[in-house]
Amino acid sequence: MPFSRVTGTGGYLPERVMTNAELEKIVDTTDAWITARSGIKERRIVEDHEFTCDLAEKASRKAIQAAGKTPADVDLIVVATSTPDVVFPSTACLLQERLGVTGPPAFDVQAVCAGFLFAVDVADKFIRTQSANCALVVGAETFSRILDWSDRRTCVLFGDGAGAVILEASAEPGILSTHLHSDGRFKDLLCVPTGVSRNYRKLQNGGAYVTMEGGEVFRWAVTAMSDIVKETLDANRMTLDQIDWLVPHQANSRIINAIGKRLGLSDRKVVMTVEKHGNTSAASVPLALDEAVRDGRIQNGNFVLIEGFGGGFTWGSAMIRM
Ligand code: COA
Repeated sequence: MPFSRVTGTGGYLPERVMTNAELEKIVDTTDAWITARSGIKERRIVEDHEFTCDLAEKASRKAIQAAGKTPADVDLIVVATSTPDVVFPSTACLLQERLGVTGPPAFDVQAVCAGFLFAVDVADKFIRTQSANCALVVGAETFSRILDWSDRRTCVLFGDGAGAVILEASAEPGILSTHLHSDGRFKDLLCVPTGVSRNYRKLQNGGAYVTMEGGEVFRWAVTAMSDIVKETLDANRMTLDQIDWLVPHQANSRIINAIGKRLGLSDRKVVMTVEKHGNTSAASVPLALDEAVRDGRIQNGNFVLIEGFGGGFTWGSAMIRM
């Protein structure tokens, strides 16, 4: 049975930068509060004419190029998003058309901020069962479209972006293990309570926004993302000192620091990019991974543990030998 290997990464952030100073003019907040509570200094926001698929395409082309492939080589597309361009077709199908790929399966997965981990897990299984050889796995979001820009508790925390990886079949590992969890009992703590079926009249009137019990989410995120690191290490019979990099979901520097402290992991082994783009949901892990690959922190042969946590609740991880 082949393994899947990450052979290319890509990322894309919209050009428009929104600083904390700009947010001070929109809601009753301060740069000092946002920085102290979240570590975020700025986020990127799409223009009116930009959509999730536009960001996904740009990140995907970079990942395909980094892998030395062409779109024609891609035989599976999985897009993780909670902000698809349209209800259907899936953003993966829209992306497939943009890339000029015809035939192989393309579909979305929805696990909010843990979505990229769910997408990697699915693509890894396609490759290991020899149903695909070259998978494009994307996390792409335009969360700015589902933010209530009058709610200071949420609008300061999120941003738009996309990240992508190419996974290829290989005799050498690769992805060593993946781990996924969900617990729907917590569905109300972090959600958009409006949809195309439930509360659809609100949607028609333009009212679909993120709501969050910040403190509760914080506590669960730290616990779940610490525990899943241990679960992942145990599954691979590895110890913490054997991982070269932890790439956690980039929601909040305080969550990331609390995980590091709980585990006893040095900051020097943790990739943190949240200050530049805020919480980009499903895009956050592949964006952080891409940045650390491109700036040379993550090297071939490194053991990299990626992990995410999001609404649902959903959480997941993967141990990767780069
Ligand atoms: N600017 C200024 N003040 C703000 C604010 C903002 N943007 N947002 C909230 N406040 C205020 C609150 O109204 C509250 O005021 P009060 O005491 O007068 O009622 C005060 O700050 C403290 O609010 P609290 O919610 O207790 O702050 P906190 O220290 O818990 O930080 C979060 C809030 C949201 C930053 C924090 O709970 C958090 O990071 N949660 C996890 C969020 C997350 O990452 N979610 C996604 C996971 S996928």
